Amino acid sequence: MTSINEQPIPAARPVIGEEEIEAAVRVLRSGRVVQGPEVAAFEEGFSGLVEGRHCVAVNSGTSALHLLLLALGIGPGDEVIVPSFSFAASANAVRLVGADVVFADIEPGSFGLDPAAVEAAVTPRTAAIMPVHLYGHPAAMDRLMAVAEKHQLAVVEDACQAHAAALHGTPVGAFGAGGTFSFYPTKNMHSLEGGMVTTADAELARTLRLLRNQGMEQRYANEIVGANMRMTDVAAAVGRVQLGKVEGWTEQRRANAAYLDAHISAPNVTTPPVAEGARHVYHQYTIRVRGDRDAAMAKLTEAGIGNAVYYPTPIHRLKPYWEPDQKAGRNWDLPETERAAAEVVSLPVHPSLGEGDLERIAAAVNTLGENL
Ligand SMILES: Cc1ncc(COP(=O)(O)O)c(C=O)c1O
Repeated sequence: MTSINEQPIPAARPVIGEEEIEAAVRVLRSGRVVQGPEVAAFEEGFSGLVEGRHCVAVNSGTSALHLLLLALGIGPGDEVIVPSFSFAASANAVRLVGADVVFADIEPGSFGLDPAAVEAAVTPRTAAIMPVHLYGHPAAMDRLMAVAEKHQLAVVEDACQAHAAALHGTPVGAFGAGGTFSFYPTKNMHSLEGGMVTTADAELARTLRLLRNQGMEQRYANEIVGANMRMTDVAAAVGRVQLGKVEGWTEQRRANAAYLDAHISAPNVTTPPVAEGARHVYHQYTIRVRGDRDAAMAKLTEAGIGNAVYYPTPIHRLKPYWEPDQKAGRNWDLPETERAAAEVVSLPVHPSLGEGDLERIAAAVNTLGENL
């Protein structure tokens, strides 16, 4: 039970501090509110997180994925290999451009795409692979890039949960043809809503800029068909404040995770493994619980420990994917995905936690009995 002076610890705590508020007000007073100087400065600043790649700001992570697939020319007739163990946005972006989603299984440790499963899923129609750096842990990019090179496939990184994560020193968003980030409020850094596409290819960056703004570089001189996926300067100003803090917050998340790793000892709980050479940025601190997960979550909630399952239903089991697959008689064999969806629970790891909070989280997990 939560005692009277022990407040519940929320699973996530988005930061909207005085600096963010002042930045937003400054932009509102300036009158330049849409895709102006703040957006340009945010793009330039963010490129520091992705080895100087071109950065194109948009209005959400979903838009970032959508636009990147469009810019790469992926569409009807193409297949894109996607993990089913992700947020629906990863697969939705593929369907939104009219391409077909092919699901591949994950590796149990990183929760990212399994390169062997990806290789087995390649067909003559495969155009791209979409590794998702789930929970802030980089997918096996070294091995996935090798599969992509062998089959000449584009790599679209979904780094929406993984700002400043890296593998063997290379930051996510700097491996593939393009990377995508989300700045939704619960992410490691946010811009209220927002997203970013990163790419080393200047021509692709130009296409992305055209696509986000009705196909225009010069006003009313439309070059191609485009959408309106522009970021506001208010969002960019908030994002710039957060960009200045994300490294410190990331270190705090990593320290919080290290504390939980060291203090969680319940026998039926597995703490999150980290692959060799990986920089995990702990967007989520996700344990596996063997036994009755619902009972475990109810006990944590009773102890005032915020907890959540990301994601209880793999994408291939969601209606817009499940129904057409059933009709076509298509069955995906995704045992690690199914197991992860049944076992995972994310615990608070956000940078606002104090040592007392961390002690309470570890203690509550350690009281989960063996006979769940
Ligand atoms: C893995 C993943 N991909 C894509 C997205 C989409 O980002 P947004 O919510 O900014 O559209 C999210 C976040 O919500 C995500 O977690």
